Amino acid sequence: MIPLFDLTRQYNKLREEVLRTVDSVLSDGRVILGPAVENFEKELAEYLDVKHAIGVANGSDALVIALHALGIEKGDKVVTTPYTFFATASCIVRNGGVPVFVDVDPETYNIDLEQVEHAIRKENAKAVIPVHLFGRTVDFEKLHFLKVKYGVKILEDAAQSIGSEGKTDNIIKKSGTFGNIGIFSFFPTKNLGAYGDAGAIVTNDDTLAERAKMLRQHGSKKKYFHEMVGYNSRLDSLHAAILSVKLKYLDEWTERRINIAKEYQRLFEEKRLPLKYPKVEEKGYRSHVYHQYVVEFEDEQTRDRVKEYLTKNDIGTALYYPLPLHLQKCFAEYGYKEGDFPVSERLSKTTLALPIFPELTDEEIATIVEKISEVI
Ligand SMILES: Cc1ncc(COP(=O)(O)O)c(C=O)c1O
Repeated sequence: MIPLFDLTRQYNKLREEVLRTVDSVLSDGRVILGPAVENFEKELAEYLDVKHAIGVANGSDALVIALHALGIEKGDKVVTTPYTFFATASCIVRNGGVPVFVDVDPETYNIDLEQVEHAIRKENAKAVIPVHLFGRTVDFEKLHFLKVKYGVKILEDAAQSIGSEGKTDNIIKKSGTFGNIGIFSFFPTKNLGAYGDAGAIVTNDDTLAERAKMLRQHGSKKKYFHEMVGYNSRLDSLHAAILSVKLKYLDEWTERRINIAKEYQRLFEEKRLPLKYPKVEEKGYRSHVYHQYVVEFEDEQTRDRVKEYLTKNDIGTALYYPLPLHLQKCFAEYGYKEGDFPVSERLSKTTLALPIFPELTDEEIATIVEKISEVI
């Protein structure tokens, strides 16, 4: 059995350290916010080179709170991609805003920034939520241009891309830290994952940080005195302590993910397989951290045939994402229809996620590629 993702292999290596840190939090007794959360926030901010990191309950809440902190309110238009996880768009609706979708680039699967510019002008949009999909950084130069030219707010959805980097004005920055505000998810399968739900908001803006901090705690700075109507969305202290342990290994794990992508690429090239895969690029910075390894087939039939054959051979796969967001029933009121975003619609039918996690072995990669080769 080769699973799509396996948390237990990692746990076997970290067991002692994780149990020790859990014991220290429980012995300390401060399990809501307190030192474990503060430590992790400080370490995360240092790792990302950003002024503020605020731990929250999950990545979806991080998006809702970040948009709220930015001041998005009823009727405000926010541009985003339909080829992403649901929470990227639901946060807009949950703040009373209106999602404006534009298609993705067929090469990177990230939001097409030319179309974003057009949408900002046409819809007078207040904000943009780019997603660094599957771990690949959105083009910072173009984003910077939009930020300056139109004054739109940028909320980076970096849920899948911790540690990935981009470049603007010759400065390399980590994803999540480039926009006005950014968010991360520490869902267990993420490159940095907790043992349950967890997330964070990051920003260099003191006012946004203060608002986000209040919003995660019922809109209050001082207990029982509420300046805003906020949420109960704190990062659990136990998860924070475990994330501190794991953060130390993140770069090592990321390197292994990049090497796994290289190994897939080597074997695909050797076997001359008719599929499209994310090429490892030498840019001098980490433009992709391979949160997911997603390949693309010629058509839906081939994709489904490969999926079925791999399942039969005990190899895990997944579809990210089978129905683009503009076609979701709950967004019907916005009037989108099939054919509006051909690239996203095609990718939802032709792509397949293959196993990737740092403990995946080269032998397992060889087996996966062999099985794909057999079926196509
Ligand atoms: C792109 C993207 N945005 C937001 C989220 C939401 O994060 P969470 O699952 O922690 O709520 C996820 C996680 O699945 C995601 O992949």
